[in-house]
Amino acid sequence: MSTVTCQLWNERDVDTPPLYLQGHVAPVAREIEGRDLAVRGALPPELDGRYFRNGPNPRPGEDPGHWFTGPGMLHGIRLEGGRARWYRNRWIRTAAFDGAPRYKPDGSPDPAVSPANTSVIRHGGRILALVETGLPYEVSPELDTLGPFDFGGRLTTAMTAHPKQDPATGDLHFFGYGAVPPYLTYHRATADGRLVESREVRVPGPTMMHDFAITEHHVIWLDLPVVFDPHLLGRTIPYRWDDAYRARLGVMEQRGDAPVRWYEVEPGYVFHIGNAREDPDGRIKLDAVRYNRDAFARTWGSIGGVGDSSGPRISPNDRPTLYCWILDPATGRAVEQPLDDRAIEFPTLNDAHVGRSSRYRYAVRDDGVVKYDLTLGSASRYDAGEGQAPGEAVFVPAADDRAEDAGWLLTIVSDRAGRGSELQVLDAADLRLTAAVPLPQRVPAGFHGAWLPQP
Ligand SMILES: [Fe+2]
Repeated sequence: MSTVTCQLWNERDVDTPPLYLQGHVAPVAREIEGRDLAVRGALPPELDGRYFRNGPNPRPGEDPGHWFTGPGMLHGIRLEGGRARWYRNRWIRTAAFDGAPRYKPDGSPDPAVSPANTSVIRHGGRILALVETGLPYEVSPELDTLGPFDFGGRLTTAMTAHPKQDPATGDLHFFGYGAVPPYLTYHRATADGRLVESREVRVPGPTMMHDFAITEHHVIWLDLPVVFDPHLLGRTIPYRWDDAYRARLGVMEQRGDAPVRWYEVEPGYVFHIGNAREDPDGRIKLDAVRYNRDAFARTWGSIGGVGDSSGPRISPNDRPTLYCWILDPATGRAVEQPLDDRAIEFPTLNDAHVGRSSRYRYAVRDDGVVKYDLTLGSASRYDAGEGQAPGEAVFVPAADDRAEDAGWLLTIVSDRAGRGSELQVLDAADLRLTAAVPLPQRVPAGFHGAWLPQP
């Protein structure tokens, strides 16, 4: 029966390209460079660094079978002194890009063969392109691929695309998950990039864990009902919703060996965490973009190349929304509730507040950016215009960051009809468009970016 499910997910008119090869998601065919780009408005002069954005970009004529599996391409824009010095895009030259098989004979992904297509970070002086099925790939500040990076041989699992850097210690917390045991492994690297801790975390099965959270003293795990199914190998990403798999959130001490404390929650799936924090009484408060079963099925089909992403059929119960859980060690129970009913994704925040109390979240919706004020329980919106699709809005703190929202949001906005893209800089305080840099070519909708200040 699993095979039938697989066929349904992939059933589409053979003459119609999948959604991830169309419109503003369609890949670009060339690597180019543009210098001294025109700017609309005024770029804040203190933005001195690089904005890098990662995403899948299949090579011309190739269909990888799923949006998530195309080879990674980085787009970079160098800002300096109020000017946009250059734009450049480069494929990441991974073993997968060169055609090496992604799966081992036992069906599990080979961490050494990674499309490196999901996010980009700088840690310990290295710029790393990440994907959850493989090892990081190091790239240069000019986007040239330097090669796979395994922390000097210490990293023997895949690495999540969503590591969390503790703002106080600089430690990088991350994990790897896999289709075969150990299903989940926790890792911690020091601020200077040494992997100093790796330990298995026991979960009942091969759950697909895209993200996780940290607090000051804890790591929060998402043990949710989307699990590996070997029957799906070869056709798509071999993970599916499983009603029989219990949904749980786990709280693990960062330093200490107490067992992970698990909390049963309503079945749902989370690609992306907003943030988490711990109260003095030990309660953990976590927010994220949550999908219920129907919302997950709809989205998973769409990004797998079937279905559509039009708006009218979406009901409040059938879309990803901001959601909150409070985990109480005194009762052993989770209290959970939706925070909003807008369809959003790609939540971001001021990273100085990761794992700590934080008031603001930023997220992307169909044609704009939403700013949530969790203290007031309110939201404001930037409208990018009809037919415009913003990508993840990365928060860059102002040099004089008096307030949590003193800074800018950087987002690449693309025309859905494929007519072009620009880097937009919004004032994070009031979502006013401060500046825009039209880019010399369209940037396909992708995943995650990062601001890398000039060292
Ligand atoms: Fe992600």
